[in-house]
Amino acid sequence: MDYKILGWLNVIILGVLITPFIMVRLNKYVFKTKNKNYLEITKKFRKIHKPLGIALVGSSIYHGYLALGAIRLHTGTVLFAAIAFTVIIGGVYYRKKKKNSFYTHKIMAVVVIVLLLIHLFYPYAFSKLL
Ligand code: HEM
Ligand code: HEM
Repeated sequence: MDYKILGWLNVIILGVLITPFIMVRLNKYVFKTKNKNYLEITKKFRKIHKPLGIALVGSSIYHGYLALGAIRLHTGTVLFAAIAFTVIIGGVYYRKKKKNSFYTHKIMAVVVIVLLLIHLFYPYAFSKLL
């Protein structure tokens, strides 16, 4: 598998992971619908949230391994660390249901998206810092 295809697959997975969040907000502020299909689809996206989040960890490592072949300081490595932390905190929230961990989980999702943009537009940004 080509690291580029895997990279874009990771982006798609990340998109699917934040889709329920977007669908709930869109409905709250824009659509305001009680349409059963809309609610059903949102539910389906939520159902695959946890396994997909865990799968993303594996597919990111594989993509990084194919792209760099080594563990190095790279925007991708930092992005990976943020994803791994998001997944762990998501798991903690799922088990303990503490508000704090849910808040951290959501903040981390924003951090992940910012780091993804850096990874896509300035992939070697951090290596240049050193
Ligand atoms: C272990 C962590 C990662 C490492 C070491 C890594 C490394 C790399 C490297 C070296 C490139 C090529 C950059 C270039 O030469 O332009 C790249 C491209 C890319 N990465 Fe990553 N990456 C990692 C994680 C991720 C993650 C988590 C995502 C998505 C969520 C991602 C998405 C992409 C995409 C879409 C590209 C562009 C492919 C293209 O050129 O079409 N990467 N990555
Ligand atoms: C990088 C991976 C992940 C990202 C970017 C992510 C992102 C998000 C976001 C943005 C929300 C907010 C939904 C809302 O406020 O409506 C959320 C909810 C949630 N996440 Fe994650 N998540 C990831 C992985 C995981 C994993 C692996 C787990 C559990 C093992 C998990 C468990 C949860 C739970 C329990 C909720 C709340 C309720 C629900 O919608 O089911 N997340 N996640």
